[in-house]
Amino acid sequence: MALSDYLADLDALAAAATSAFTAAADAGALEAARIEFLGAKSGRIKTVQKQLGTVPGLDKPKAGKRFNEVKTALEASFVAAEGRLAASPAPSTASAPFDPTLPGKRPRIGHLHPLTQTIEELTDLMGRLGFTVAVGPEIEDEWHNFEALNIPPSHPARDPLENFYLQAAGAATGQPLLLRSQTSTVQIRVMEQTPPPVRVISLGRVYRPDTADATHYPMFHQIEGLLVDRGVTMADLKSVLRLFASSFLGGDVHIRFRPSFFPFTEPSVEVDMSWHDTGHGDAIRWIEMGGAGMVDPHVLRAVGYDPEEVTGFAFGIGVERICARRHGVKDIRDFYRNDVRFLHQFS
Ligand code: PHE
Repeated sequence: MALSDYLADLDALAAAATSAFTAAADAGALEAARIEFLGAKSGRIKTVQKQLGTVPGLDKPKAGKRFNEVKTALEASFVAAEGRLAASPAPSTASAPFDPTLPGKRPRIGHLHPLTQTIEELTDLMGRLGFTVAVGPEIEDEWHNFEALNIPPSHPARDPLENFYLQAAGAATGQPLLLRSQTSTVQIRVMEQTPPPVRVISLGRVYRPDTADATHYPMFHQIEGLLVDRGVTMADLKSVLRLFASSFLGGDVHIRFRPSFFPFTEPSVEVDMSWHDTGHGDAIRWIEMGGAGMVDPHVLRAVGYDPEEVTGFAFGIGVERICARRHGVKDIRDFYRNDVRFLHQFS
């Protein structure tokens, strides 16, 4: 090998080794670089040392001198790199001891709101009884919220003080709009579009200007059920509600009908559910859950059904009330306070 080639090889090796030593970020990388370049058995410096024998005799002293210089310089640069790492050790995990016996930090995992959980459960439960889900808008017109439900303009339920009327009228109709005050609106929407038989539930928000207290809130949720077919009776209504109540609240639930009045059902009832209140000396307690009844023939006619052909039942139950009942929540306002200490109990 010509002297010039040999010297060029030496220079290339020196440059490569120096940059590897300076770049090493931790002790492991530096050691790997040391073995590659200065390793006693097969380091690259050894290879170059052996090639010294192939340099022509007269040039050997020059080549040998340069070899020694490079070797010394590389050893010095290695020691310098070692010093640099010792002075500022890389922020490696090895320097921060990890104690695997310490208890871990449990990540906080969110969950569905108790009311959403209830809604999903009720949907599932009624689905098993053959009811499919129907949805309707929360902004309604008077036809769906009142008129078709047999609530005439003079009816007190239409009082502006009892409803959230909107200032803007419907763009297409020019008719007043309001936030729906009941999910019975969806009964009308479904029957207008589907010939009988129908078997639907609708769950959603309704709005009434009530003062918030332990059992009222200006916005709450209802689950509405509607079944229309040939020969449907009040007995079917009671069976479905009893199944519904006992599946959701657990075995020992009874339901009771109290005569009532709704413009869109005839006869109409108030639905109470009872359970054994073990906290009060085994007393039987009744709680009002909502309204129900047989769909009024006027309503069937308003949507184009023939009341001589089909009959139906409908019910509307407050979701907050049954959710509160099930979990022993005393004040439904707790559902809306967004206090995670409260909500976290329902995970
Ligand atoms: N819509 C009634 C209410 O909000 C409840 C109801 C629904 C009554 C269906 C009868 C039939 O109070």
